Amino acid sequence: MPVETVDRSRLELDAEADRVRGEIDDLFARLLVSRGDGRDVLFEAMRHAAIGGGKRLRPLLTVATAKLFGIDRERALRAGAAIEAIHVYSLIHDDLPCMDDDDLRRGKPTVHKAFGEAAAVLAGDSLHALAFEILAEPDTHEDPFVRADLILELAKAAGPWGMAGGQMMDLAAEGQTLDLPAITRLQQLKTGALIEYSVEAPCIMARLPADARTPYRGYARNIGLAFQIADDLIDHGGDEGAAGKRTGKDAEAGKATFVSVLGPERAEQQARLLVSQAIEHLDAHGAEADLLRTLARFSIERKH
Ligand code: IPE
Ligand code: IPE
Ligand code: MG
Ligand code: MG
Ligand code: MG
Repeated sequence: MPVETVDRSRLELDAEADRVRGEIDDLFARLLVSRGDGRDVLFEAMRHAAIGGGKRLRPLLTVATAKLFGIDRERALRAGAAIEAIHVYSLIHDDLPCMDDDDLRRGKPTVHKAFGEAAAVLAGDSLHALAFEILAEPDTHEDPFVRADLILELAKAAGPWGMAGGQMMDLAAEGQTLDLPAITRLQQLKTGALIEYSVEAPCIMARLPADARTPYRGYARNIGLAFQIADDLIDHGGDEGAAGKRTGKDAEAGKATFVSVLGPERAEQQARLLVSQAIEHLDAHGAEADLLRTLARFSIERKH
């Protein structure tokens, strides 16, 4: 792409990211209103975690892919919010003392630091359930078969075949030396599965036949891996203030990452290679896929 096209694409991406951030915040604010009873701390903890922070990469991927297929924006946002709810729950639990034991997230105290461990566990549980509630509502899609498929695939991406399974592998690998295929597998589950679903959800909503989904799956798979490498690079050498979370913790905990195996330079090269492969998957598209291309590029060029 010529430089001026890259600049323009970047501005468009930033504008779309701002818009999605606002829309997802509004959606969560509408859903997470305190009821003036013993659950108030639960709702407060959920709002603390879910509103006003994060890059919203996953809903952005969903909205950008949905645009390609002409899916109604409100519906795409609902699917995006469901994915973000799972993501936020995974972060709350990831930060708990029994997992990564972190006290800073998105520039704020982690949920268990602010509200206690019990509220943090329950806020995570509730966001997990909320995700499926959102998908099951007819406002997300008029076709109950499509809704069932959205729910099934999110369950697979979040549970033992996906994120939760990857988190277990991540903890089990602490202090161990994994080879590249094993780390790739771990990261594909831990981070990749939910990112892949962010692109799969609009494919489901558009009722795309299986073979037509191949390029989007390839795109999302490459982004998922590249994105976690970027996260590991931030942990390795990133600035804590910019990251909004503590850095230097992976090496301290003996985590198995691309950075621990390849070193930061080769890990970065690998991330760049994955991004160019992601973009190649969109070759059948013209300018209408530029947002997804730019998103791929900037998913690794970030400080947080
Ligand atoms: C952090 O995810 C944990 C990973 C799975 C890499 P993000 O980098 O998307 O975190 P937020 O949502 O922007 O805070
Ligand atoms: C967490 O990965 C991935 C999740 C599924 C939550 P990390 O443990 O590396 O995420 P950060 O660095 O704490 O955000
Ligand atoms: Mg972790
Ligand atoms: Mg962590
Ligand atoms: Mg990390």
